[in-house]
Amino acid sequence: MNSLAPAVRARHLVKTYPRDVRALDSLDIEVAPGTVFGLLGPNGAGKSTTVKILTTLARPDSGSAEVAGHDVLRRPERVRRAIGVVAQKSGADPTATGRENLRLQGRLHGLSGAALDQRVDELLDRFTLTDAARRTVKGYSGGMRRRLDVALGLVHRPEVLFLDEPTTGLDPEARTAMWDEIARLAGDEGLTILLTTHYLEEADRLAERIAIVDRGRVVVTGTPDALKGELRGDAVHLELSEPLGEAGRTLLDGALGAVPGVSEAHHVGGRRITVRADDGAAAVPLLLGTLERVGVAVASATVARPSLDDVYLRYAGRRYAEAEADTAVTGQPALAGGAR
Ligand SMILES: Nc1ncnc2c1ncn2[C@@H]1O[C@H](COP(=O)(O)OP(=O)(O)OP(=O)(O)O)[C@@H](O)[C@H]1O
Ligand SMILES: [Mg+2]
Repeated sequence: MNSLAPAVRARHLVKTYPRDVRALDSLDIEVAPGTVFGLLGPNGAGKSTTVKILTTLARPDSGSAEVAGHDVLRRPERVRRAIGVVAQKSGADPTATGRENLRLQGRLHGLSGAALDQRVDELLDRFTLTDAARRTVKGYSGGMRRRLDVALGLVHRPEVLFLDEPTTGLDPEARTAMWDEIARLAGDEGLTILLTTHYLEEADRLAERIAIVDRGRVVVTGTPDALKGELRGDAVHLELSEPLGEAGRTLLDGALGAVPGVSEAHHVGGRRITVRADDGAAAVPLLLGTLERVGVAVASATVARPSLDDVYLRYAGRRYAEAEADTAVTGQPALAGGAR
């Protein structure tokens, strides 16, 4: 594989599930070799569907993708040899021990004899599972199980590793341990990692580049710092005492537009407004004065440096937590626009 060619390239991927669920709506991504790429999005955004297509487990309705230089539709067997996959749901056999799981996986990839023994020992050691190696997986903690999943994905030394939500469901301590593990893996020579997550913090911390996915398409891509840097100034979050109606919002938007150094007011639900300000601390008294003049009572005002959540709000038009809540109720992405 040409070292300059992307390790993963997806173009215009479209995937529709029965009942007209458009899981992917022309999704494009490109991952440079040897880097960690984060696919960040709320529940139902299309992350797992993307991973399934890139790992040859599903076919797109249209569009194309190459992984490690091989076309996923024309050369699926070559793609499979080049990749490791850690699915969102654990693939380990709970009734077998950690060591048995690894040995089986190794044999599936053609390892045997001393090479297999050595690789299994190496991975048990690396993922601090040596002491648990003889216990059946059903007795493992969530963190141990997830570490075993990652070890299983690495048995055959893949070029590209897919991690679909590696830390979802882990307690904070196990999550931090997994982050350290992934960061270490990223240092492995040549390994490219595509991870999906719905934790803003996880993408920020691990990925060199991220693509924010919403409703089956990439809404923005870049380094976490560049994305945050695009947002000038501070975010001021205002919580209102009473929800605002449509007329109140229009009135308020007009008034906010006249406050010096303030731009981009987003309404989130009826009671929260996020405003971008060149200087948040200086803007707060002006904002409070303005709201008071138009008769809107404020419960709280907080100033924050731009976060990935602000980036998401800007590009997806709703707060990240809102998008998560939308899909938590229906199990599907909301079709109507959110909170603008
Ligand atoms: N096998 C399937 N049959 C029908 N609909 C599906 C299927 N798989 C996924 N979907 C739908 O496609 C959309 C995208 O799902 P996908 O699993 O790719 O999202 P995701 O970003 O991985 O979400 P999560 O963070 O919850 O894992 C969702 O609306 C989902 O309900
Ligand atoms: Mg998923």
